[in-house]
Amino acid sequence: MEKKGQIYEGKAKILYNTNDPDFVIQYFKDDATAFNAAKKGTIENKGVFNNKISTKIFEYLKSEGVPSHFEKHLSDREMLVKKVEIVPIEVIIRNKAAGSFCRNYGAEQGVELSSPVLEYCYKCDEFNDPLMNEYHIQVLNLATPEELEVIKNYTFKINALMKQFFAKLNLDLVDFKIEFGRCKGEIILADEISPDTCRIWEAGTGKKLDKDRFRHDMGDIEEAYQEVLNRVSK
Ligand SMILES: Nc1ncnc2c1ncn2[C@@H]1O[C@H](COP(=O)(O)OP(=O)(O)OP(=O)(O)O)[C@@H](O)[C@H]1O
Ligand SMILES: [Mg+2]
Repeated sequence: MEKKGQIYEGKAKILYNTNDPDFVIQYFKDDATAFNAAKKGTIENKGVFNNKISTKIFEYLKSEGVPSHFEKHLSDREMLVKKVEIVPIEVIIRNKAAGSFCRNYGAEQGVELSSPVLEYCYKCDEFNDPLMNEYHIQVLNLATPEELEVIKNYTFKINALMKQFFAKLNLDLVDFKIEFGRCKGEIILADEISPDTCRIWEAGTGKKLDKDRFRHDMGDIEEAYQEVLNRVSK
């Protein structure tokens, strides 16, 4: 597989074409942003950590029947993935209260939610990724009702599987954001799953092992990402 020209540079990753039109290379940068890029910085080796952590989780989900764009871990920072047409919706699941859920609804951080909460945000930096519901999605033609049903079913399945996966590692999956894409008429999981896109707390201590350490200048950021990688690599 040959790497070709750059397609897109985002806040955390760069996409490159390959000599095969069905595949692209996802390059993971150390760039970190928060609060819709109002805060910018670098987390040393974050790209390496997130590439490996995403690889482990995509492989696990595949073994449990969840299709994703993941094809191969190519190098420290590069992942070969199927090229998809991204559905511009950030799909969020919350198991415990944290972040904007606390800000928006006054919930106490860390409270276990009586059932997982599914949220959709419009993947659009210009509008600050606003919350939206199924009716917004339909009239904006972002996804068909059938596609949304598939996305919803996969998301709850992914949540149940990842909660189990992390619990075995003595980690709490507080919440996460995922993206899906269209590939040869199918909806598959895309983008990444990492401490950049999940809130992961150590069970018992509640120690934060995710991008909140960067958001709130908590220090030991690299160590937290390394700790998650160590555990998922077991
Ligand atoms: N398999 C894929 N094929 C095509 N595009 C993809 C695939 N997986 C992810 N993408 C897109 O590639 C980009 C990756 O870059 P990055 O995550 O840095 O993006 P971003 O969209 O700028 O920012 P953010 O995701 O933080 O809003 C994203 O826009 C993502 O939706
Ligand atoms: Mg992204």
